[in-house]
Amino acid sequence: MLTQEMLDSIKKVEATRPSRIGADLRRMDADEKHNLLKQYHPDYKESGFSTLVMGPNKGEKVPVELGELLQANSRLLGVDLDLNQIDYDVDVLVIGGGGAGASAAIEAHKGGANVMIATKLRIGDANTMMAEGGIQAADKENDSPQRHFLDAFGGGHYAAKPELLKKLVMEAPEAIQWLNDLGVMFDKNPDGTMVTTHGGGTSRKRMHACADYSGAEIMRVLRDEVINRGITVVDFTSAVELILDDKGQVAGAVLQNMETGEYLVARAKVVIIATGGAGRLHYQGFPTSNHYGATADGLVLGYRVGAPLLYQDTIQYHPTGVAYPAQLFGALVTEKVRSVGAMLVNCDGEAFMHPLETRDVAAASIIRECSDRGKGVPTPGGGFGVWLDTPMIEMIHGKGTIEKRIPAMLRMYLNYDIDMREVPILVYPTLHYQNGGLEINADCATKTIHNLMVAGEAVGGIHGRNRLMGNSLLDIIVFGRDAGKAAAARCNEVELGTMTLEHVEKFAKELEEAGVHNDKVSPLLLPPYAHEGRH
Ligand code: FUM
Repeated sequence: MLTQEMLDSIKKVEATRPSRIGADLRRMDADEKHNLLKQYHPDYKESGFSTLVMGPNKGEKVPVELGELLQANSRLLGVDLDLNQIDYDVDVLVIGGGGAGASAAIEAHKGGANVMIATKLRIGDANTMMAEGGIQAADKENDSPQRHFLDAFGGGHYAAKPELLKKLVMEAPEAIQWLNDLGVMFDKNPDGTMVTTHGGGTSRKRMHACADYSGAEIMRVLRDEVINRGITVVDFTSAVELILDDKGQVAGAVLQNMETGEYLVARAKVVIIATGGAGRLHYQGFPTSNHYGATADGLVLGYRVGAPLLYQDTIQYHPTGVAYPAQLFGALVTEKVRSVGAMLVNCDGEAFMHPLETRDVAAASIIRECSDRGKGVPTPGGGFGVWLDTPMIEMIHGKGTIEKRIPAMLRMYLNYDIDMREVPILVYPTLHYQNGGLEINADCATKTIHNLMVAGEAVGGIHGRNRLMGNSLLDIIVFGRDAGKAAAARCNEVELGTMTLEHVEKFAKELEEAGVHNDKVSPLLLPPYAHEGRH
Protein backbone atom coordinates (compact mmCIF):
# COMPACT_ATOMS: atom_id res chain seq x y z
CA MET A 1 0.00 0.00 0.00
CA LEU A 2 1.49 3.30 -1.05
CA THR A 3 1.02 6.14 1.45
CA GLN A 4 -1.04 9.23 0.59
CA GLU A 5 2.17 11.28 0.49
CA MET A 6 3.63 8.83 -2.02
CA LEU A 7 0.47 8.97 -4.16
CA ASP A 8 0.55 12.78 -4.15
CA SER A 9 4.18 12.76 -5.16
CA ILE A 10 3.52 10.22 -7.94
CA LYS A 11 1.03 12.70 -9.45
CA LYS A 12 3.89 15.20 -9.78
CA VAL A 13 6.10 12.51 -11.34
CA GLU A 14 3.39 11.74 -13.88
CA ALA A 15 3.02 15.42 -14.70
CA THR A 16 6.69 15.89 -15.55
CA ARG A 17 7.12 12.51 -17.31
CA PRO A 18 6.28 13.56 -20.93
CA SER A 19 8.79 16.44 -20.81
CA ARG A 20 11.52 14.18 -19.43
CA ILE A 21 11.31 11.60 -22.18
CA GLY A 22 14.12 12.28 -24.63
CA ALA A 23 15.42 15.17 -22.49
CA ASP A 24 19.16 15.65 -22.80
CA LEU A 25 20.40 15.95 -19.24
CA ARG A 26 23.79 17.45 -18.54
CA ARG A 27 26.56 15.29 -17.08
CA MET A 28 28.46 16.68 -14.09
CA ASP A 29 32.00 17.88 -14.66
CA ALA A 30 34.92 16.50 -12.67
CA ASP A 31 34.87 19.26 -10.02
CA GLU A 32 31.14 18.93 -9.45
CA LYS A 33 31.49 15.18 -9.00
CA HIS A 34 34.41 15.57 -6.64
CA ASN A 35 32.56 18.06 -4.43
CA LEU A 36 29.39 16.00 -4.45
CA LEU A 37 31.23 12.82 -3.41
CA LYS A 38 33.15 14.60 -0.67
CA GLN A 39 30.00 15.96 0.85
CA TYR A 40 27.57 13.09 0.46
CA HIS A 41 29.24 9.76 -0.32
CA PRO A 42 29.54 7.49 2.76
CA ASP A 43 33.22 6.81 1.93
CA TYR A 44 33.92 10.38 3.05
CA LYS A 45 32.04 10.20 6.34
CA GLU A 46 34.81 10.27 8.95
CA SER A 47 32.77 8.61 11.69
CA GLY A 48 32.37 5.50 9.52
CA PHE A 49 36.09 4.75 9.65
CA SER A 50 38.85 3.88 12.08
CA THR A 51 42.60 3.43 11.74
CA LEU A 52 44.24 0.01 11.79
CA VAL A 53 46.76 -0.22 14.64
CA MET A 54 48.43 -3.46 13.59
CA GLY A 55 49.06 -5.79 10.69
CA PRO A 56 50.22 -5.13 7.12
CA ASN A 57 47.99 -2.06 6.69
CA LYS A 58 48.78 -0.49 10.06
CA GLY A 59 48.04 3.23 10.05
CA GLU A 60 45.52 3.03 7.23
CA LYS A 61 41.83 3.86 7.17
CA VAL A 62 39.25 1.08 7.31
CA PRO A 63 35.47 0.88 7.85
CA VAL A 64 34.92 0.59 11.61
CA GLU A 65 33.15 -2.78 11.37
CA LEU A 66 35.85 -4.31 9.17
CA GLY A 67 38.64 -2.93 11.35
CA GLU A 68 37.12 -4.67 14.37
CA LEU A 69 37.16 -8.01 12.56
CA LEU A 70 40.66 -7.60 11.17
CA GLN A 71 41.89 -6.90 14.70
CA ALA A 72 39.84 -9.53 16.50
CA ASN A 73 40.77 -12.84 18.13
CA SER A 74 41.22 -16.09 16.28
CA ARG A 75 38.50 -18.70 16.68
CA LEU A 76 41.31 -21.16 17.38
CA LEU A 77 42.75 -19.49 20.47
CA GLY A 78 42.75 -22.11 23.19
CA VAL A 79 41.72 -24.89 20.79
CA ASP A 80 43.92 -27.97 20.96
CA LEU A 81 44.29 -28.96 17.33
CA ASP A 82 46.55 -31.68 15.94
CA LEU A 83 47.71 -30.57 12.50
CA ASN A 84 49.05 -34.06 11.81
CA GLN A 85 45.49 -35.32 11.83
CA ILE A 86 44.76 -34.44 8.22
CA ASP A 87 41.14 -34.67 7.11
CA TYR A 88 41.56 -33.49 3.52
CA ASP A 89 44.76 -33.62 1.45
CA VAL A 90 44.49 -31.83 -1.91
CA ASP A 91 46.54 -29.91 -4.45
CA VAL A 92 44.26 -26.88 -4.57
CA LEU A 93 41.88 -25.73 -1.85
CA VAL A 94 39.31 -23.17 -3.00
CA ILE A 95 37.64 -21.30 -0.15
CA GLY A 96 34.25 -20.07 -1.31
CA GLY A 97 31.54 -21.54 -3.52
CA GLY A 98 30.45 -18.53 -5.59
CA GLY A 99 31.27 -17.67 -9.19
CA ALA A 100 34.99 -16.99 -8.62
CA GLY A 101 35.48 -20.15 -6.57
CA ALA A 102 33.61 -22.32 -9.05
CA SER A 103 35.51 -20.87 -12.04
CA ALA A 104 38.82 -21.40 -10.25
CA ALA A 105 37.95 -24.97 -9.33
CA ILE A 106 36.85 -25.81 -12.88
CA GLU A 107 40.10 -24.54 -14.43
CA ALA A 108 42.33 -26.08 -11.75
CA HIS A 109 40.58 -29.39 -12.31
CA LYS A 110 41.00 -29.03 -16.07
CA GLY A 111 44.70 -28.41 -15.39
CA GLY A 112 44.98 -31.80 -13.71
CA ALA A 113 44.92 -30.73 -10.06
CA ASN A 114 43.13 -32.50 -7.24
CA VAL A 115 40.75 -29.71 -6.21
CA MET A 116 38.36 -29.18 -3.35
CA ILE A 117 35.87 -26.36 -2.69
CA ALA A 118 35.06 -25.59 0.95
CA THR A 119 32.06 -23.32 1.39
CA LYS A 120 30.31 -22.19 4.55
CA LEU A 121 26.83 -22.45 3.03
CA ARG A 122 26.09 -24.40 -0.17
CA ILE A 123 27.83 -24.05 -3.50
CA GLY A 124 26.17 -21.14 -5.28
CA ASP A 125 25.02 -19.38 -2.10
CA ALA A 126 26.93 -16.23 -2.95
CA ASN A 127 26.74 -12.72 -4.33
CA THR A 128 27.13 -14.14 -7.85
CA MET A 129 23.68 -15.69 -7.50
CA MET A 130 22.24 -12.27 -6.59
CA ALA A 131 23.78 -10.38 -9.56
CA GLU A 132 21.15 -9.11 -11.92
CA GLY A 133 22.13 -6.64 -14.60
CA GLY A 134 24.84 -8.30 -16.63
CA ILE A 135 28.48 -8.80 -17.52
CA GLN A 136 30.61 -6.43 -19.58
CA ALA A 137 32.80 -7.39 -22.53
CA ALA A 138 33.92 -5.33 -25.50
CA ASP A 139 33.10 -7.80 -28.23
CA LYS A 140 31.13 -5.67 -30.68
CA GLU A 141 32.56 -4.00 -33.79
CA ASN A 142 32.19 -0.45 -32.48
CA ASP A 143 33.99 -1.31 -29.24
CA SER A 144 37.39 -2.45 -28.01
CA PRO A 145 39.04 -3.63 -24.79
CA GLN A 146 40.94 -0.32 -24.84
CA ARG A 147 37.64 1.61 -24.63
CA HIS A 148 36.47 -0.73 -21.92
CA PHE A 149 39.71 -0.01 -20.03
CA LEU A 150 39.25 3.76 -20.33
CA ASP A 151 35.64 3.64 -19.12
CA ALA A 152 36.49 1.47 -16.12
CA PHE A 153 39.69 3.36 -15.29
CA GLY A 154 37.88 6.72 -15.29
CA GLY A 155 34.88 5.29 -13.41
CA GLY A 156 37.26 3.95 -10.75
CA HIS A 157 38.89 7.39 -10.29
CA TYR A 158 42.10 6.31 -12.06
CA ALA A 159 43.02 4.14 -9.08
CA ALA A 160 42.66 0.65 -10.61
CA LYS A 161 45.91 -1.33 -10.82
CA PRO A 162 46.56 -1.07 -14.57
CA GLU A 163 47.88 -4.63 -14.86
CA LEU A 164 44.75 -6.03 -13.22
CA LEU A 165 42.32 -3.90 -15.19
CA LYS A 166 44.16 -4.73 -18.41
CA LYS A 167 43.71 -8.43 -17.72
CA LEU A 168 40.01 -7.87 -16.96
CA VAL A 169 39.19 -6.11 -20.22
CA MET A 170 41.49 -8.11 -22.50
CA GLU A 171 40.13 -11.45 -21.34
CA ALA A 172 36.49 -10.32 -21.26
CA PRO A 173 35.42 -11.47 -24.74
CA GLU A 174 36.89 -14.92 -24.10
CA ALA A 175 35.10 -15.09 -20.74
CA ILE A 176 31.74 -14.49 -22.45
CA GLN A 177 32.55 -17.12 -25.04
CA TRP A 178 33.53 -19.60 -22.30
CA LEU A 179 30.25 -19.04 -20.46
CA ASN A 180 28.26 -19.26 -23.66
CA ASP A 181 29.95 -22.53 -24.57
CA LEU A 182 29.27 -23.93 -21.10
CA GLY A 183 25.57 -23.23 -21.65
CA VAL A 184 24.76 -19.81 -20.20
CA MET A 185 21.62 -18.56 -21.95
CA PHE A 186 22.51 -14.96 -22.79
CA ASP A 187 19.91 -12.65 -24.31
CA LYS A 188 20.31 -12.88 -28.09
CA ASN A 189 18.94 -11.13 -31.16
CA PRO A 190 17.06 -13.14 -33.80
CA ASP A 191 20.32 -13.42 -35.80
CA GLY A 192 22.09 -15.07 -32.84
CA THR A 193 24.24 -12.08 -31.87
CA MET A 194 24.19 -11.03 -28.23
CA VAL A 195 21.96 -8.20 -27.01
CA THR A 196 24.11 -5.56 -25.31
CA THR A 197 23.10 -2.44 -23.37
CA HIS A 198 24.71 0.51 -21.60
CA GLY A 199 25.51 0.66 -17.90
CA GLY A 200 26.48 3.70 -15.82
CA GLY A 201 29.79 5.08 -17.10
CA THR A 202 30.02 3.01 -20.30
CA SER A 203 30.70 4.68 -23.62
CA ARG A 204 29.51 1.65 -25.61
CA LYS A 205 26.74 -0.90 -25.19
CA ARG A 206 28.73 -3.84 -23.83
CA MET A 207 26.52 -5.28 -21.08
CA HIS A 208 25.61 -8.88 -21.86
CA ALA A 209 22.71 -10.18 -19.81
CA CYS A 210 20.38 -13.03 -19.07
CA ALA A 211 17.27 -10.89 -18.55
CA ASP A 212 17.64 -9.51 -14.98
CA TYR A 213 18.91 -12.71 -13.40
CA SER A 214 22.31 -12.85 -15.09
CA GLY A 215 24.18 -14.00 -11.98
CA ALA A 216 21.72 -16.78 -11.18
CA GLU A 217 21.98 -18.10 -14.73
CA ILE A 218 25.80 -17.95 -14.69
CA MET A 219 25.96 -19.63 -11.29
CA ARG A 220 23.53 -22.35 -12.43
CA VAL A 221 25.89 -23.28 -15.23
CA LEU A 222 29.10 -23.05 -13.17
CA ARG A 223 27.62 -25.18 -10.41
CA ASP A 224 26.55 -27.81 -12.94
CA GLU A 225 30.06 -27.86 -14.38
CA VAL A 226 31.63 -28.29 -10.93
CA ILE A 227 29.27 -31.17 -10.18
CA ASN A 228 29.64 -32.79 -13.60
CA ARG A 229 33.42 -32.77 -13.23
CA GLY A 230 33.15 -34.54 -9.90
CA ILE A 231 35.02 -31.81 -8.05
CA THR A 232 34.86 -32.33 -4.28
CA VAL A 233 32.58 -29.76 -2.65
CA VAL A 234 32.41 -29.59 1.13
CA ASP A 235 29.29 -27.60 1.99
CA PHE A 236 28.45 -25.92 5.31
CA THR A 237 32.14 -25.86 6.20
CA SER A 238 33.92 -22.56 6.69
CA ALA A 239 37.60 -21.76 6.71
CA VAL A 240 38.49 -20.24 10.09
CA GLU A 241 42.26 -19.94 9.76
CA LEU A 242 44.89 -20.45 7.07
CA ILE A 243 47.72 -22.88 7.81
CA LEU A 244 51.28 -21.97 6.86
CA ASP A 245 54.32 -24.26 6.76
CA ASP A 246 57.74 -23.75 8.33
CA LYS A 247 58.93 -22.10 5.10
CA GLY A 248 56.26 -19.42 5.45
CA GLN A 249 54.20 -20.55 2.47
CA VAL A 250 50.52 -21.38 2.67
CA ALA A 251 49.83 -25.05 3.36
CA GLY A 252 46.06 -25.32 3.79
CA ALA A 253 43.35 -24.19 6.15
CA VAL A 254 41.58 -25.13 9.33
CA LEU A 255 37.93 -25.68 8.48
CA GLN A 256 34.94 -25.81 10.76
CA ASN A 257 31.76 -27.75 10.21
CA MET A 258 28.99 -25.16 10.58
CA GLU A 259 26.56 -27.63 12.09
CA THR A 260 28.67 -29.70 14.47
CA GLY A 261 31.38 -27.14 15.22
CA GLU A 262 34.03 -29.78 14.53
CA TYR A 263 37.43 -28.54 13.30
CA LEU A 264 38.98 -30.19 10.25
CA VAL A 265 42.46 -29.89 8.78
CA ALA A 266 42.77 -29.39 5.03
CA ARG A 267 46.29 -29.61 3.63
CA ALA A 268 46.79 -27.97 0.23
CA LYS A 269 49.70 -26.89 -1.95
CA VAL A 270 47.82 -23.86 -3.20
CA VAL A 271 44.93 -22.03 -1.53
CA ILE A 272 42.59 -19.73 -3.44
CA ILE A 273 40.55 -17.29 -1.38
CA ALA A 274 37.25 -16.65 -3.17
CA THR A 275 35.09 -15.65 -0.24
CA GLY A 276 33.28 -12.66 -1.78
CA GLY A 277 32.13 -9.43 -0.19
CA ALA A 278 31.23 -7.72 3.07
CA GLY A 279 27.70 -6.34 2.72
CA ARG A 280 26.48 -8.19 5.80
CA LEU A 281 28.76 -6.02 7.92
CA HIS A 282 26.20 -3.23 7.22
CA TYR A 283 28.74 -0.41 7.20
CA GLN A 284 27.31 2.84 8.61
CA GLY A 285 24.00 1.09 9.21
CA PHE A 286 23.23 0.62 5.52
CA PRO A 287 21.02 -2.22 4.33
CA THR A 288 22.61 -4.51 1.76
CA SER A 289 21.93 -6.22 -1.53
CA ASN A 290 24.45 -8.92 -0.55
CA HIS A 291 24.08 -12.58 0.16
CA TYR A 292 23.73 -13.77 3.74
CA GLY A 293 27.32 -15.01 3.87
CA ALA A 294 29.02 -11.77 2.78
CA THR A 295 31.03 -11.13 5.96
CA ALA A 296 34.57 -10.39 4.66
CA ASP A 297 35.97 -13.71 5.92
CA GLY A 298 38.68 -13.98 3.27
CA LEU A 299 40.06 -10.55 4.14
CA VAL A 300 40.39 -11.62 7.77
CA LEU A 301 42.07 -14.93 6.87
CA GLY A 302 44.55 -13.21 4.57
CA TYR A 303 45.28 -10.32 6.93
CA ARG A 304 46.06 -12.69 9.78
CA VAL A 305 48.82 -14.40 7.80
CA GLY A 306 50.24 -11.04 6.75
CA ALA A 307 48.75 -10.45 3.29
CA PRO A 308 48.16 -6.73 2.69
CA LEU A 309 44.85 -5.17 1.69
CA LEU A 310 44.31 -2.52 -0.92
CA TYR A 311 41.56 0.15 -0.95
CA GLN A 312 39.86 -1.40 2.08
CA ASP A 313 38.38 2.05 2.75
CA THR A 314 36.26 2.22 -0.39
CA ILE A 315 32.82 0.70 -0.63
CA GLN A 316 30.21 0.71 -3.33
CA TYR A 317 26.69 1.78 -2.41
CA HIS A 318 24.40 0.77 -5.23
CA PRO A 319 22.24 3.81 -5.93
CA THR A 320 19.05 1.88 -6.39
CA GLY A 321 18.28 -0.36 -3.45
CA VAL A 322 14.64 -0.85 -2.52
CA ALA A 323 13.48 1.89 -0.11
CA TYR A 324 9.88 0.65 -0.05
CA PRO A 325 8.19 -1.79 0.67
CA ALA A 326 9.91 -2.56 3.96
CA GLN A 327 9.99 -6.31 3.29
CA LEU A 328 12.43 -5.71 0.42
CA PHE A 329 14.44 -2.96 2.13
CA GLY A 330 17.95 -2.84 0.66
CA ALA A 331 17.34 -5.42 -2.07
CA LEU A 332 18.90 -4.66 -5.42
CA VAL A 333 17.00 -2.85 -8.15
CA THR A 334 19.27 -3.58 -11.06
CA GLU A 335 20.97 -0.70 -12.85
CA LYS A 336 19.50 -2.24 -15.99
CA VAL A 337 16.25 -0.49 -15.03
CA ARG A 338 18.04 2.81 -15.61
CA SER A 339 19.86 1.54 -18.65
CA VAL A 340 16.55 0.67 -20.35
CA GLY A 341 15.22 4.15 -19.74
CA ALA A 342 13.89 4.74 -16.20
CA MET A 343 14.95 8.08 -14.75
CA LEU A 344 15.67 8.99 -11.13
CA VAL A 345 13.39 11.82 -9.99
CA ASN A 346 12.71 13.52 -6.67
CA CYS A 347 9.44 14.07 -4.79
CA ASP A 348 8.52 16.91 -7.15
CA GLY A 349 9.10 14.83 -10.26
CA GLU A 350 12.36 16.62 -11.11
CA ALA A 351 15.27 14.70 -12.69
CA PHE A 352 18.28 15.62 -10.58
CA MET A 353 21.11 13.86 -12.43
CA HIS A 354 22.03 12.31 -15.77
CA PRO A 355 20.60 8.76 -15.80
CA LEU A 356 23.91 7.08 -16.53
CA GLU A 357 26.28 8.68 -14.03
CA THR A 358 28.58 6.19 -12.29
CA ARG A 359 27.30 4.52 -9.15
CA ASP A 360 29.17 6.56 -6.58
CA VAL A 361 27.97 9.80 -8.16
CA ALA A 362 24.39 8.52 -8.46
CA ALA A 363 24.35 7.31 -4.84
CA ALA A 364 25.73 10.62 -3.56
CA SER A 365 23.16 12.56 -5.65
CA ILE A 366 20.30 10.56 -4.12
CA ILE A 367 21.63 11.08 -0.60
CA ARG A 368 21.90 14.85 -1.27
CA GLU A 369 18.35 14.94 -2.64
CA CYS A 370 17.01 13.15 0.45
CA SER A 371 19.05 15.15 2.98
CA ASP A 372 20.08 18.77 2.37
CA ARG A 373 17.73 19.39 -0.52
CA GLY A 374 14.71 17.96 1.31
CA LYS A 375 13.41 16.41 -1.90
CA GLY A 376 13.12 12.81 -0.75
CA VAL A 377 9.87 10.91 -0.35
CA PRO A 378 9.31 9.71 3.24
CA THR A 379 8.74 6.02 3.93
CA PRO A 380 6.63 4.67 6.82
CA GLY A 381 9.84 3.25 8.37
CA GLY A 382 11.28 6.73 8.89
CA GLY A 383 13.61 6.73 5.89
CA PHE A 384 13.50 8.44 2.52
CA GLY A 385 13.76 7.50 -1.11
CA VAL A 386 13.59 8.96 -4.60
CA TRP A 387 11.54 7.64 -7.50
CA LEU A 388 12.89 5.44 -10.24
CA ASP A 389 10.38 6.28 -12.92
CA THR A 390 9.80 2.82 -14.40
CA PRO A 391 6.64 3.57 -16.46
CA MET A 392 8.97 5.59 -18.73
CA ILE A 393 10.48 2.34 -19.97
CA GLU A 394 7.35 1.22 -21.76
CA MET A 395 6.63 4.75 -23.04
CA ILE A 396 10.05 4.67 -24.71
CA HIS A 397 10.35 1.05 -25.84
CA GLY A 398 6.75 -0.09 -26.02
CA LYS A 399 4.41 -2.28 -24.01
CA GLY A 400 5.81 -5.58 -22.80
CA THR A 401 9.40 -4.33 -22.47
CA ILE A 402 9.45 -4.61 -18.68
CA GLU A 403 8.11 -8.16 -18.73
CA LYS A 404 10.72 -9.08 -21.34
CA ARG A 405 13.81 -7.27 -20.07
CA ILE A 406 13.39 -7.11 -16.30
CA PRO A 407 10.91 -9.88 -15.46
CA ALA A 408 12.33 -10.81 -12.05
CA MET A 409 12.12 -7.19 -10.90
CA LEU A 410 8.53 -6.93 -12.13
CA ARG A 411 7.54 -10.06 -10.22
CA MET A 412 9.41 -9.02 -7.08
CA TYR A 413 7.31 -5.84 -6.86
CA LEU A 414 4.04 -7.48 -7.96
CA ASN A 415 4.36 -9.72 -4.90
CA TYR A 416 3.75 -6.54 -2.91
CA ASP A 417 1.00 -5.23 -5.21
CA ILE A 418 3.24 -2.65 -6.81
CA ASP A 419 3.09 -2.72 -10.61
CA MET A 420 6.22 -0.97 -11.83
CA ARG A 421 4.70 -0.67 -15.32
CA GLU A 422 2.10 1.69 -13.86
CA VAL A 423 3.82 3.43 -10.95
CA PRO A 424 7.42 4.45 -10.21
CA ILE A 425 9.34 2.59 -7.49
CA LEU A 426 11.03 4.11 -4.44
CA VAL A 427 14.81 3.60 -4.10
CA TYR A 428 17.73 4.59 -1.86
CA PRO A 429 21.41 3.50 -1.88
CA THR A 430 22.22 0.06 -0.51
CA LEU A 431 25.58 -1.48 0.44
CA HIS A 432 26.51 -3.51 -2.62
CA TYR A 433 30.22 -4.17 -3.18
CA GLN A 434 33.62 -3.90 -1.57
CA ASN A 435 35.92 -2.12 -3.98
CA GLY A 436 38.90 -3.06 -1.84
CA GLY A 437 40.30 -6.40 -0.75
CA LEU A 438 43.49 -8.44 -0.71
CA GLU A 439 46.23 -7.09 -2.92
CA ILE A 440 47.37 -9.40 -5.73
CA ASN A 441 49.78 -9.49 -8.64
CA ALA A 442 48.54 -10.05 -12.18
CA ASP A 443 48.98 -13.81 -11.62
CA CYS A 444 46.33 -13.69 -8.83
CA ALA A 445 48.94 -14.44 -6.13
CA THR A 446 49.09 -12.35 -2.95
CA LYS A 447 52.07 -10.04 -2.58
CA THR A 448 53.58 -11.72 0.46
CA ILE A 449 52.38 -15.29 1.01
CA HIS A 450 53.65 -17.87 -1.41
CA ASN A 451 50.94 -19.97 -3.12
CA LEU A 452 48.10 -17.98 -1.58
CA MET A 453 45.90 -16.70 -4.38
CA VAL A 454 42.75 -14.58 -4.44
CA ALA A 455 39.89 -14.19 -6.94
CA GLY A 456 36.59 -12.33 -7.12
CA GLU A 457 35.26 -9.70 -4.73
CA ALA A 458 37.92 -10.50 -2.12
CA VAL A 459 40.52 -8.88 -4.44
CA GLY A 460 41.33 -5.19 -4.13
CA GLY A 461 42.57 -3.02 -6.97
CA ILE A 462 40.90 -4.39 -10.10
CA HIS A 463 38.34 -1.59 -10.24
CA GLY A 464 40.04 1.20 -8.32
CA ARG A 465 37.80 3.22 -6.03
CA ASN A 466 34.50 2.59 -7.78
CA ARG A 467 33.35 -0.25 -9.99
CA LEU A 468 31.20 -0.04 -13.09
CA MET A 469 28.16 -2.26 -13.43
CA GLY A 470 28.87 -5.65 -14.98
CA ASN A 471 32.58 -5.65 -14.24
CA SER A 472 32.13 -7.82 -11.16
CA LEU A 473 30.47 -10.77 -12.88
CA LEU A 474 33.32 -10.34 -15.32
CA ASP A 475 36.11 -10.29 -12.75
CA ILE A 476 34.90 -13.43 -11.00
CA ILE A 477 35.17 -15.29 -14.30
CA VAL A 478 38.44 -13.78 -15.54
CA PHE A 479 40.33 -13.87 -12.21
CA GLY A 480 38.64 -17.08 -11.07
CA ARG A 481 39.70 -18.92 -14.20
CA ASP A 482 43.21 -17.51 -14.18
CA ALA A 483 43.71 -18.31 -10.51
CA GLY A 484 42.60 -21.89 -11.18
CA LYS A 485 44.94 -22.28 -14.14
CA ALA A 486 47.88 -20.77 -12.27
CA ALA A 487 47.18 -22.92 -9.20
CA ALA A 488 47.18 -26.12 -11.25
CA ALA A 489 50.46 -25.13 -12.88
CA ARG A 490 52.04 -24.20 -9.54
CA CYS A 491 51.08 -27.17 -7.44
CA ASN A 492 53.44 -29.54 -9.23
CA GLU A 493 56.40 -27.54 -8.00
CA VAL A 494 55.31 -27.06 -4.39
CA GLU A 495 57.15 -28.93 -1.65
CA LEU A 496 55.25 -28.48 1.58
CA GLY A 497 57.13 -28.27 4.85
CA THR A 498 55.80 -28.86 8.37
CA MET A 499 52.42 -27.27 8.93
CA THR A 500 52.09 -24.67 11.65
CA LEU A 501 49.65 -22.20 13.22
CA GLU A 502 52.41 -20.15 14.84
CA HIS A 503 51.19 -17.07 12.99
CA VAL A 504 47.94 -17.22 15.00
CA GLU A 505 49.87 -16.90 18.25
CA LYS A 506 52.08 -14.22 16.76
CA PHE A 507 49.00 -12.28 15.72
CA ALA A 508 47.53 -12.57 19.23
CA LYS A 509 50.79 -11.20 20.63
CA GLU A 510 50.75 -8.30 18.19
CA LEU A 511 47.18 -7.49 19.23
CA GLU A 512 48.30 -7.45 22.84
CA GLU A 513 51.27 -5.22 22.06
CA ALA A 514 49.10 -2.83 20.07
CA GLY A 515 46.81 -2.52 23.10
CA VAL A 516 43.81 -4.06 21.36
CA HIS A 517 41.65 -5.78 23.93
CA ASN A 518 38.28 -7.04 22.85
CA ASP A 519 36.23 -10.19 23.01
CA LYS A 520 35.43 -10.24 19.31
CA VAL A 521 36.34 -13.29 17.26
CA SER A 522 36.79 -13.47 13.51
CA PRO A 523 36.15 -14.45 10.78
CA LEU A 524 32.53 -13.59 11.49
CA LEU A 525 31.10 -16.35 9.21
CA LEU A 526 27.47 -15.22 9.56
CA PRO A 527 25.83 -11.90 10.48
CA PRO A 528 24.81 -11.62 14.15
CA TYR A 529 21.10 -11.81 13.32
CA ALA A 530 21.67 -15.33 11.91
CA HIS A 531 21.53 -16.54 15.48
CA GLU A 532 18.36 -14.69 16.47
CA GLY A 533 15.47 -16.98 17.27
CA ARG A 534 17.75 -19.96 17.86
CA HIS A 535 16.61 -22.16 20.74
O1 FUM B 1 22.71 -3.23 -11.00
C1 FUM B 1 23.09 -4.37 -11.15
O2 FUM B 1 22.47 -5.15 -11.83
C2 FUM B 1 24.35 -4.78 -10.54
C3 FUM B 1 25.33 -5.12 -11.31
C4 FUM B 1 26.72 -5.14 -10.78
O3 FUM B 1 26.93 -4.83 -9.61
O4 FUM B 1 27.62 -5.37 -11.57
